[in-house]
Amino acid sequence: MVTLKIRRQDGERVWHETFPVEETPGMSVLEALFIVQEALDGGLCFRYSCRGAVCGSCAMLINKVPRLACRTQVSDAGNEMVVNAVKWGPLARPVTRVAKGEILIEPLPNMEVIRDLVVDMDHFYELLDSIEPWISAGEDVPEGGNLMSPVVEQKIEVYTGCILCATCHGACPAAARDEMYLGPAALAKAWRFSLDPREPEKDKQARLEAVDNNSGVWGCDVVFKCTAVCPKKVTPTRGILALRRQIPKNRIKNIFNRRK
Ligand code: FES
Repeated sequence: MVTLKIRRQDGERVWHETFPVEETPGMSVLEALFIVQEALDGGLCFRYSCRGAVCGSCAMLINKVPRLACRTQVSDAGNEMVVNAVKWGPLARPVTRVAKGEILIEPLPNMEVIRDLVVDMDHFYELLDSIEPWISAGEDVPEGGNLMSPVVEQKIEVYTGCILCATCHGACPAAARDEMYLGPAALAKAWRFSLDPREPEKDKQARLEAVDNNSGVWGCDVVFKCTAVCPKKVTPTRGILALRRQIPKNRIKNIFNRRK
């Protein structure tokens, strides 16, 4: 047996509730939640869709680590030490002890809870939209289209794996203290489009200017927590550092362009 200790929340109160679930080989945390919902408490709310680490819907805090419930094995999570998600490195300490065979499940941090494990993703998407994560068609498309070299394609591929699950946002200390901080997902996307040769130069410039502030690239603590939790091995911190290097180059380029 494994015990799920779940943080519940409705409009009025917050409480923790434990549910015993019979563990079967290969069971994921999402499957364990289905059992709770079907057999023990039909009112338990959580989000999911693909059940295969593709849609990103089932992101939640499992033993204080943001991750996908469909990709987390009960056998692994039931034997973990729980550490404080806010502290890191040598400061990390077990703060919420769970018994062996118990899994602590909570909603993703840094987002408003709608109910139980369901968080409001609107603000996360608004932050993402603010960097305009798309390529405008532009007017000067060369005959035969804008071709991309394999080298550039490889560089971009590191960032295109993002499934917008927001685990990075839930792990981010900068997002915890500044709700206007763009966050790892949006900033990684900003770098992804800066790399794209199909993007018109003026749009690249505008995006670099949009992230050149303390709620953008300069707000990052560079603690790599986002990179550590990403289920798709995207490396937002690397993208943020690349943007930090690119911004001064961009400023110098602008000065010369103005003088022409
Ligand atoms: S249910 Fe789609 S990623 Fe988990």
